[in-house]
Amino acid sequence: SWTTGNVIEEQVTAIRELVGDKRAICGLSGGVDSAVAAALVQKAIGSQLTCVYVDHGLMRKGETEQVEKDFVAATGVQLKVVDAEERFLKALAGVSDPEEKRKIIGREFIRVFEQAQAEIIADEGPEVAFLVQGTLYPDVVESGGGTGTANIKSHHNVGGLPEDLEFKLIEPLRKLFKDEVRMVGQELGLPEEIVQRQPFPGPGLGIRIVGEVTKERLDLLREADAIAREELTAAGLDREIWQCPVVLLADVRSVGVQGDGRTYGHPIVLRPVSSEDAMTADWSRLPYDVLAKISTRITNEVRDVNRVVLDVTSKPPGTIEWE
Ligand code: XMP
Repeated sequence: SWTTGNVIEEQVTAIRELVGDKRAICGLSGGVDSAVAAALVQKAIGSQLTCVYVDHGLMRKGETEQVEKDFVAATGVQLKVVDAEERFLKALAGVSDPEEKRKIIGREFIRVFEQAQAEIIADEGPEVAFLVQGTLYPDVVESGGGTGTANIKSHHNVGGLPEDLEFKLIEPLRKLFKDEVRMVGQELGLPEEIVQRQPFPGPGLGIRIVGEVTKERLDLLREADAIAREELTAAGLDREIWQCPVVLLADVRSVGVQGDGRTYGHPIVLRPVSSEDAMTADWSRLPYDVLAKISTRITNEVRDVNRVVLDVTSKPPGTIEWE
């Protein structure tokens, strides 16, 4: 019968056999799937695995530290962190179009990841033969089954693989659904904040700033997002909502009155949704007192924000993300 213990044991045996004395690389995104896949492979082959984390500067508050510190502490994994914030900001400078932003972030991500791979191969030699992917069962089905290599949807997957991939893939989560992956992660001792994390897009906060992405705007959005997350967690609503994008309307200003006088600041949008699979969604009817608390805190604590608005659109017609 299905138990997380069995799954882990089976996978560990299979991965050991497959990898032998070769080495593997795994990209970490900060999300559940790559974290659990990496932890499983780490359990199987230990220091023969190297993880790569590309810090594109578009993560939310505390998320990079979660990977660098908590994940490493929980697994003992060997991790290479690439600080690419400047590079991403430079590539995104002057760009406001959503699709353009997505393309740039995806392209830069692949370049940085490939460079990191090349460095690892230079350090560790040609025994580096495997790439670990956190592909889940629904991804496999969506992309038409297949047997492993290169059937990864490029759509929505910033960690999309280069075409001329020469690694063999290890996909230890291929038979699992999301809730099973979370259980396996828990069993492997991963931090709660990683295992229970709600969906977060690969392009990160880059597609939650309507307008040009700048460091200043990212910092501002990170503060607002952290407040919203904190209050939703405090209110015990994490399980009820699917996710709650927090969006900065950087190109919009409105008049407000704060402290000693008139302000001319930006609105923050709260986009809490409930959903089964993100294909359709409904806006979450959050308690008014929770909304009030978030609004008060954001306008008090986040510089340049003088208004908080609630997105009451279902999907369709609105997508979950604003870009
Ligand atoms: P939309 O905005 O299309 O989002 O309703 C559906 C779900 O997908 C997430 N999302 C992404 N995830 N890379 C990802 O890994 C992406 O480029 C991306 N864009 C959207 C979104 O957060 C929601 O859960």
